[in-house]
Amino acid sequence: MSTDHPEETPGRYPIAIVGAGALGLSFAARLAGVGPIAVVARNEARARALRSGIEVGGQPIRIAAFTAADAPRADYVIILVKAGDTEAAARCALAMRPKAVLSLQNGLVEERLREVLGALPCGQGVTTAGAWRDGERVVPAGLGETLVPPGFEPVAEQLSRAGLPARVEREIYAARLAKLLVNLAINPVTALFRVPNGALADPPYRICVEALVREAWPVLRAEGLVLNEAAAKTRVFDVIAGTAENRSSMLQDVLAGRPTEIDALTVAFLSLAARHRAEVPTHAALCHLLRLSEASRLGTAASQR
Ligand SMILES: NC(=O)c1ccc[n+]([C@@H]2O[C@H](COP(=O)([O-])OP(=O)(O)OC[C@H]3O[C@@H](n4cnc5c(N)ncnc54)[C@H](OP(=O)(O)O)[C@@H]3O)[C@@H](O)[C@H]2O)c1
Repeated sequence: MSTDHPEETPGRYPIAIVGAGALGLSFAARLAGVGPIAVVARNEARARALRSGIEVGGQPIRIAAFTAADAPRADYVIILVKAGDTEAAARCALAMRPKAVLSLQNGLVEERLREVLGALPCGQGVTTAGAWRDGERVVPAGLGETLVPPGFEPVAEQLSRAGLPARVEREIYAARLAKLLVNLAINPVTALFRVPNGALADPPYRICVEALVREAWPVLRAEGLVLNEAAAKTRVFDVIAGTAENRSSMLQDVLAGRPTEIDALTVAFLSLAARHRAEVPTHAALCHLLRLSEASRLGTAASQR
């Protein structure tokens, strides 16, 4: 990881990341080792802290950090904010005059991006890379694999050079649906019952996960998921077994008192189900319970989110 001259500002960065959180900084730290990289933070205090130095994966690193107000120009902008901040991040990306904008967020956010970005090329990829925040530190939790839509070849190349396995996936929507399936089955249950992923393999949670997969599969299949029902179930329980000790991102949000990404995950899925006239009562019930609990936790009205 390079720590040289983080404050040096080229006229135009090849890649910039909007969202200086767990995954954004984890990616930025690696990308800094192979070329200039800019990060846009939510505010100046955060940008200043990043320029002074933070710890990513046990290594100190200083990052060329900006805010939306002074964001530099960039060829490609990667959006790595939580789903609820998508529109603000997209407005920031637009101002950076990029060739294209890539979201690596979870959930279905592409339509929201397009509403802000208009004719500017944009796409949503998928990443199984992991990272979490521990106070001011960022702890990378696996390189995973990052799939990007056609048109983002230079981004995939630079990520790969930085040691983050990445490639262009022609069937990117199917890949996103497969990730959505896993998120739909794991995140709401772990967040509602505050259990680690591994708990879902056994009673009493397993029956709930099985119902979520059974309901989700036909809808996602109709949308383009390339998995049969048995493979869908295997995919979900393989992830549960492989991440047994992990707290899902939604559970982390609940425990940290942050809003969850339920709107981009289960709420977006409920819209797909309605479009396909599918009954998905387990998803609907979990969504309702999570929104109620989130509203009471954050002191907001459930109907507003
Ligand atoms: N972490 C993972 O392992 C992982 C894996 C796969 C996919 N993802 C997805 O990647 C996305 C980011 O996740 P994450 O875990 O990195 O989230 P995170 O740690 O919460 O980071 C998001 C960062 O974006 C900042 N932000 C919010 N609005 C902004 C804006 N308008 N301009 C600039 N910065 C802004 C936030 O600032 P504040 O701190 O002030 O809110 C926060 O620092 C999510 O969609 C998540 O589902 C994460």
